[in-house]
Amino acid sequence: MSTSSLINRAISVLRLNDTGVFTKPGPHQYPHQWNWDSALIALGLSHFDLPRAQTEIRALLTGQWQDGMVPSVVYHSVPSDYFPNPAFWQIENSVNAPSVPTTGITQPPLLATVVRMLHDRHSIAGFVQEVYPALLRWHRWLHTDRDVDGSALACIIHPWESGTDDSPRWLHLFERIQPEALPEFQRGDTRHVAATERPNRTDYERFIYLIDVFRKLNYAASELLAHSPFLAQDILFNAILFRADEDLHTLAVSLQQPTDEIDGWLQKVRMNFDARFWNENAGLYYDYDARTGKTIPVNTASTFLPLFAGLPSEMQARRLIEEHLLNEAEYAPAGDVHHWVTTTSRAEPTWEPRRYWRGPAWIIMNWFILKGLRRYGYNETAELIRQDTLGLMEREGFREYYDPRDGSGCGSTDFSWSAALTLELSSSSS
Ligand code: DGY
Repeated sequence: MSTSSLINRAISVLRLNDTGVFTKPGPHQYPHQWNWDSALIALGLSHFDLPRAQTEIRALLTGQWQDGMVPSVVYHSVPSDYFPNPAFWQIENSVNAPSVPTTGITQPPLLATVVRMLHDRHSIAGFVQEVYPALLRWHRWLHTDRDVDGSALACIIHPWESGTDDSPRWLHLFERIQPEALPEFQRGDTRHVAATERPNRTDYERFIYLIDVFRKLNYAASELLAHSPFLAQDILFNAILFRADEDLHTLAVSLQQPTDEIDGWLQKVRMNFDARFWNENAGLYYDYDARTGKTIPVNTASTFLPLFAGLPSEMQARRLIEEHLLNEAEYAPAGDVHHWVTTTSRAEPTWEPRRYWRGPAWIIMNWFILKGLRRYGYNETAELIRQDTLGLMEREGFREYYDPRDGSGCGSTDFSWSAALTLELSSSSS
C-alpha cells in the first residue's frame, strides 16, 4: 500500500469517529471524549483540518472542573452502553463539578504539548490566548491538589489516571487493596472486545471499588490524598507533565505572560525526579507507591518516558536505551517477537502479549519512545520503530494495540489515536 493510501485511510477513520464536536477514540468501545486521546486526535486532525483540531480541544476543555482538573472523560450527554456511565460517578457530590457530565479523575496531561506543537507549526496566537488560562489552571491543580509531599510531583489516585490501566506496575498496589464491598455494576468493555484482551476481573473490581471510595469522599482533593487506597507517583504521568510544563512555559513567553510559577514547578520537578524514580542499580526509572513510601520495582516501557521529556543525563539515557530498550531479553524484537515496543519488559513474569496494558505494542508508546530516542541522537533506532509502527497499521489497520509477536491487531478497531499518529509519523514536520 502506498503512503498516500495509508494517509487517506487514517483520515477516513478520524472522520468516521467524528461527532462534529469531539472524536470518539473508537467507534464502539469508546463512544465519548477521552482526555489524552483527544490531545493526539487534535494533533492528527491538524494535518488536514486545523479548525476542527481546535474544536476538539475546546470540547475537551468544556469538561474542566472548577478547581482546574481536566477529567479523563467528557461524556457530552451522548447516550451509549459505555460503563461507567455518568450517573455512576456521582460527580454532583463535588462542589467543583462542571455542568457537563464527566468522570471524577484525570489523565496524563499531554494537551499543552500538543497546543505548543500546533502553535509552532501554524502560528495560532489567538487560539493559544484562548486556551492558555485553562491549561495553566490544570497544571496548577496537578502541582498543588495532587502534590502529597511538597515535591511538585503529581500523584495519581486511580490506574485509569495513568492511561495504562492494567499495567503490571500497579499490581503491587492492588495486592493491598481488598474491596470489602463492591457496588453493583456490569462491565461494558468485554461486550466489544475479547475478555482475553481486556483487564482481568480482579483488576477491574479494584478500578470500580476505587471510584466508589472517591464518590463517598465527594471528590474533595485533600480527602483523596489522605484516603485514596491507591496513591502513586507515576513516571509516565510526571514525565509527560514535565514536558508539558516546558511547553506551557513556551506558550506563556509567546503570550508575554509571567512564567515564575511555571519556572518554580520545573525547577522542583527537575530537582526531585531522579531522587524519586531513578534506580542506579537497575539503570531504570521505577514508579513509586506514595501510600507506603515504597519503590515499585517493575520494568515497563513507562521507564522510557523521561527520554521524551529530556530528563535523563546522557549516561542515564545510554543505560535506558542500550541496557534495556535494545536488550533482546526485554524490549528489542527477538525470538518469536518481531515488533517494537512491548509495553512491559518480557523479562517480567507478568508480561502478557495480548492483554491491554500488560504487554502489547501501543502506537502512542512507540511515538513517545521514538521522539525520546531522537532527542538523544539514537536516530537509527527511532527510524526502525517508526517504520515498524507504520507497517503494523498498514497491514492490520488502525487497531488499539498489537501483539508484538506476529503484529496481529487487538482491542478496538478504527482506533482514532492510531490513525492520528499515522498522520504525524508520516509527516516531515513530526
Ligand atoms: C476504559 O474504559 O477501559 C478506559 O481505559 C477507562 O478510562
